[in-house]
Formats: sequence, C-alpha cells, structure tokens
Amino acid sequence: MDGQDPVIAFDPEIPSTARMYDYYLGGKDNYPADREAAQEVMAMMPPGTIRTAARQNRMFLGRAVRYLARQGIRQFLDIGTGLPTMGNVHEVAQEAAPGCSVVYVDHDPVVLAHGRDMLTGTRHTTIIGYDLRQPEAILADNELRDQLDLTQPVAVLLSAVLHFIQDQEDPGGIIGRLMGALAPGSYLVISHATADSYQELDQAIHVYDSATSSMHNRTRAQVRALFTGLDLVDPGVVWLPQWHPDPGTGLAEDPGRSLCWCGAARKP
Ligand SMILES: C[S@@+](CC[C@H](N)C(=O)[O-])C[C@H]1O[C@@H](n2cnc3c(N)ncnc32)[C@H](O)[C@@H]1O
Repeated sequence: MDGQDPVIAFDPEIPSTARMYDYYLGGKDNYPADREAAQEVMAMMPPGTIRTAARQNRMFLGRAVRYLARQGIRQFLDIGTGLPTMGNVHEVAQEAAPGCSVVYVDHDPVVLAHGRDMLTGTRHTTIIGYDLRQPEAILADNELRDQLDLTQPVAVLLSAVLHFIQDQEDPGGIIGRLMGALAPGSYLVISHATADSYQELDQAIHVYDSATSSMHNRTRAQVRALFTGLDLVDPGVVWLPQWHPDPGTGLAEDPGRSLCWCGAARKP
C-alpha cells in the first residue's frame, strides 16, 4: 500500500463491495453495475440467503455494540464502515451510552461522501478515508486522535470487511498491529463470510473478482485464529444469529443461512 492513495477511485462501472452490500440491504445508494453484480451473486446462492446474511450481519453488529457499551466501552473504531443504513454504529453506541466516540474508516469514496453528509452536526463522531491494510496510518490520523484516547480501551469493529483481505495480505498480522497499539481492555469484533454452510459461496464470491475488492471465505477455525492472543467472549465464534441473541428472539431458521461466522474478544 505504501505510496498509494488509501482511498480507491470512484468508478460507477466497477461494482463496489460497499454498494453491492447496500443493494443486499435494500438501500438506494447503488448503480446498475453494482446491482447486476449483486444479483449475479444472489442467483448463485439458495434463494434469500444473501439478503438474510446482510440483515443478520447488521443485527449482529448492533448487538455487539450494545454488548460492548454494557462492558463499559465508550470508544469505537469501525473499519470498513459501509454506506449509512439503519442502526449505524454511532447511533446505536450513543443511544446505549451517550457521549461515546466513534471513528469510521473506509476506503470507498462513496461511503466517505455519504458518511460525511450523515455526520454533519453529529458530535463525537468522524469518518476518515484509509485502507484497513494501513493500520499504523489509521491510528496516527489527527481526526482519529481528536476523537479517541488510545490510552483508554477502544472497540475495533471489523464487520464483514476481513473477507476482502487476502491471506497473502496477512489479515492476522493487520489485526495484531491494530490491537497491539491499543490499551488493555480493548475489544475486537469480527464477522466474516464462510462457505462452511453453503459451498456454493466459494463459487459465488468470484463475482467479486471484478469488483473493487476480491472476496475470500474462511472456515470457522480460520476465523477463530484471527482472535489469537485475545480472550474470546462467550459463546466464541458462532453463526451471526447465535451471538448474544436478543431475549425472546428464537432462531427462526437455520443459523448457517447467515453465511458468516462472528465473535468478539477482549485484549488482556
Ligand atoms: C460488506 S461492507 C460491511 C459494512 C459494515 N461494516 C457492516 O458490517 O455492515 C464492507 C465495507 O468494507 C469496505 N472495505 C473493503 N475493503 C476495505 C479495505 N481494504 N479498507 C477499508 N475499507 C474496506 C467497503 O468499502 C465496504 O464499505
């Protein structure tokens, strides 16, 4: 990444991972190329699974943020933010604990533009343009430093973004560099695509080969390994709807239809 602009160029003809996800969620911030690619992925998977996965992922993220707020976390670093949608992290966090600070990071110029619009007039929250593969640059950013006190615990949210990092790019090393710079008591939250439940996903993700980032499924063991050195919170690495479900919400369908493993861990 050295010497390159951390933010990718805007090109409506190239499907963007952020805008495809927006389409899965039923959003409006996407272009024909994004919709075509997203529909291709959906057509390769059992009906409904992709949209279920996207919705379950947003619900997991909300539950994780509320859980962290209950643990006393007041600072959030959400990398691979995505386009504004229902239940944005700063809204959930600041409702759970007023005054929480949130820094959003993304490499997509459309996410940055919409994010800046959304945050106009919002206190304790900012969005900055970086690539996840540059953890030191992210943590050195002046706007980030204005919002986050790195001597105090921070929750790092890597929700549905690590599957855009190839093995050769060393996702575990990137996490180690991020978490290594943070205070004890900090948390890491991950959700991550997998073909463990539906092997079709190994084929379907090839649609992303012509998108802004290629996509890489990982097994449950590989996702668990990303938490190495941290204390995994119960129930460990599980399907999205299995992680701290809200009371009274039963599992209406096969949890493997969420297509993602997830978990949270605390830095000792
Ligand atoms: C599938 S969306 C997930 C959005 C949100 N985190 C969620 O879980 O609902 C993935 C986001 O990660 C961003 N992204 C992908 N690769 C990235 C990278 N290397 N650095 C920073 N952001 C990245 C995309 O632009 C997109 O906004």
